[in-house]
Amino acid sequence: VRPLRILGIETSCDETAAAVVLRHPDGRGEIVSDVVLSQLEEHSAYGGVVPEIAARAHVEALDTLIEEALLRAKVSLADVDAIAATAGPGLIGGLLVGLMTGKAIARAAGKPLYAVNHLEGHALTARLTDGLSFPYLMLLVSGGHTQLILVRGVGNYERWGTTIDDALGEAFDKTAKLLGLPYPGGPAVEKAALTGNPERFSFPRPLVGEVRLDFSFSGLKTAVRQAATSIAPLTEQDIADICASFQNAVSRTLKDRIGRGLARFREEFGSVAKPALVVAGGVAANQVLRGTLQALCNKHGFDFIAPPLRLCTDNAAMIAWAGLERLAEGLPSDDLATAPRSRWP
Ligand code: KG4
Ligand code: ZN
Repeated sequence: VRPLRILGIETSCDETAAAVVLRHPDGRGEIVSDVVLSQLEEHSAYGGVVPEIAARAHVEALDTLIEEALLRAKVSLADVDAIAATAGPGLIGGLLVGLMTGKAIARAAGKPLYAVNHLEGHALTARLTDGLSFPYLMLLVSGGHTQLILVRGVGNYERWGTTIDDALGEAFDKTAKLLGLPYPGGPAVEKAALTGNPERFSFPRPLVGEVRLDFSFSGLKTAVRQAATSIAPLTEQDIADICASFQNAVSRTLKDRIGRGLARFREEFGSVAKPALVVAGGVAANQVLRGTLQALCNKHGFDFIAPPLRLCTDNAAMIAWAGLERLAEGLPSDDLATAPRSRWP
């Protein structure tokens, strides 16, 4: 029996990506090629992703990236069993580019098409990297999402918590912008925080103590603005202290929210011998937050799984894998009439 082989395409935000991934008969996943082109430079002057620029950059890069992915995997389109492309959620222009390209290839090569939910890609990555079995909890923290998701099985997810306003990555980006730090803000805030005093400012920890598992970060951003405007001129030390205090507030918020999530998982799945929390999204790069989550997992007896950073942020290998999981389970592929969806919970 030979492994299943799939071509994956990702264009939902500001990364153009293509990958070829295998699923061996024993269920093991293998990434044979994985190319990502970041548009960071095209957008950095604007302090955020500009949808129209993103869509045009995907058009320019995607064909070459797909060729490159096939070349590196030493396969032709005739050798793949299916095509998987992100169909949402995300920026509609980019989604159109990727999904239309996927459809055209599927049609021309006579292969089935899997229209993949980007969040499902993130949710299933830990099965590709760590062979994790269901059920498990996943925390997705990126520029666009902050969600705690119960992953029960392929296509079977339950959202336990989400942000009621800003995404966590967005809070990092806005904090950086307020303080005059470069975009993307997350790495800049983390770096500045290294020399700061996390106790100097007492920033709010929204929803801490509440039973429902949602998040809120817009109040935190407002408090950062107030702190920043109350001191003039801001010294480098002030900026470092604000960043450290901001990260501290986020850390404590996550500790409370995720701690409750882990306890709820224990209640519902007492029989799972070794429960796991998986983290994904760009914010998962943050060492302080990682430390907080690791400590929390140790306390609750959970495995803490953080896939390699390259697979935590946007990539096509996770989209390919989500397609493979459906293919392997014999789930139906998608019609070529499937439309992209900018919103797709
Ligand atoms: O997953 P991602 O690369 O892209 C999407 O949002 O789809 O996440 C990007 C987000 C940005 O908001 C960025 O500021 C944040 O992740 N980020 C970080 C760090 N590195 C990236 N946030 C906190 N600490 C970091 N080290
Ligand atoms: Zn993503």
